[in-house]
Amino acid sequence: MKISVIGCGYLGAVHAAAMASIGHDVIGVDVDVRKVEALSNAKAPFFEPGLPELLAAGVANGNLRFTTDISEVQGARIHFIGVGTPQQRGGYAADLTYVNAAVDALVPFLSPGDIVAGKSTVPVGTAEQLASRVSAAGATLVWNPEFLREGWAVQDTIDPDRLVVGVPAGAAGEDAAQALRELYYPATDKGTPFIVTDYATAELVKVSANAFLATKISFINAMAEIAEVTGADVTQLADAIGHDARIGRRFLGAGIGFGGGCLPKDIRAFAARAEELGKGESVGFLREVDAINLRRRERAVELVSLALDGSVYGRKVTVLGAAFKPHSDDIRDSPALDVAVRLHGLGAVVTVTDPEAIENARRAHPQLGFEEDRDTALRGAEAVVVVTEWDEYRKNLDPVAAGELVDKRVVVDGRNCLDPTQWRAAGWTYFGMGRP
Ligand code: UGA
Repeated sequence: MKISVIGCGYLGAVHAAAMASIGHDVIGVDVDVRKVEALSNAKAPFFEPGLPELLAAGVANGNLRFTTDISEVQGARIHFIGVGTPQQRGGYAADLTYVNAAVDALVPFLSPGDIVAGKSTVPVGTAEQLASRVSAAGATLVWNPEFLREGWAVQDTIDPDRLVVGVPAGAAGEDAAQALRELYYPATDKGTPFIVTDYATAELVKVSANAFLATKISFINAMAEIAEVTGADVTQLADAIGHDARIGRRFLGAGIGFGGGCLPKDIRAFAARAEELGKGESVGFLREVDAINLRRRERAVELVSLALDGSVYGRKVTVLGAAFKPHSDDIRDSPALDVAVRLHGLGAVVTVTDPEAIENARRAHPQLGFEEDRDTALRGAEAVVVVTEWDEYRKNLDPVAAGELVDKRVVVDGRNCLDPTQWRAAGWTYFGMGRP
């Protein structure tokens, strides 16, 4: 099928490359000349496992092209909108500038019978508002939210756990749903749930899924706060409640909390939208979820300070991790980097290391010290803080060998990803999040 993808950021670039890899003819459009140049040369503008290979294959076999010229979308049957919806400056609501601009730019080049499929995460009610602009061109608007996780984006796009399409009532909506079912054939053929619904439900599925995940993380982090004043161990607590299939262990990882380009801004936008709808109290708990989450970053800083006898001022602290999670170089609203920035603000001499995110982190926070090599970063440290659970720190860092490098064997495990017994046996003073 011939398709276009408007917006080649995280979502769009992966979608374009993944659709090309399953045999579709894809044109990706972006206003950023440098991004288009990079993608056209099969270079991924961010770190995502598996993406470089798909880009290389798609560009080489001609299934995948990128352009800044939106008129080149003509002839495509489905046009995906994958532009960003960041948090508004000075507010919590989502900024829809890029979605509106994408629709405006696209409409003159639509042909009757085309399908416009929104993928961006938008406040409920957005599709309804955009629909008439699309139908005026004889095309049909559908909303097809994306559930990919960074680090697993390729797999999540080609083989998602469900597909959701919000369509308008009537034959045009049914035809559009059928076209998407065909487009996603590797998944739909094998019986992946394909849910056809209305616009509002499709939009809400996306934000409520992220709200639920954020709530689950903040729930366990709230339990960590209680564990801290009672001497309980939140990781054992999570294991124990996680055995209940109704609860489940996934996303019960207590630590410095969630970050990234999605969860934080999505729960805020959801709360803001609910307030506009006069239902602020229905998701009032999301403010609490946000507050718990931010408190845990502060707690990690507090632990470092405690470990250093009350002050980090002038002390050498090595921060292991900068990305908001492993397998990513994304530092948007990264709790890891936030901890580093807070420590620096309190006068600590901070050295940050990360396998992939140093370049992005340095650009955003040039005031911090950076070191590519993990072992060099550890040399002379008076405290080590683990803030992103990369295998390099979680699995492949030997506490005995690390102990030889540092000045003081003090470790704060901001992700509860180390084995306290092992680290203590190697002479370290170990601090976890919600663990004795
Ligand atoms: C999230 C959702 O998981 C995706 O389903 C969704 O499509 C995506 O947002 C989006 O809206 O685009 P992502 O931002 O890639 O995906 O990251 P997650 O894997 O959800 O992790 C989010 C944050 O939660 C990370 O900072 C992670 O370290 C943290 N986390 C995760 C915890 O603190 N504890 C856990 O148990 C799990």
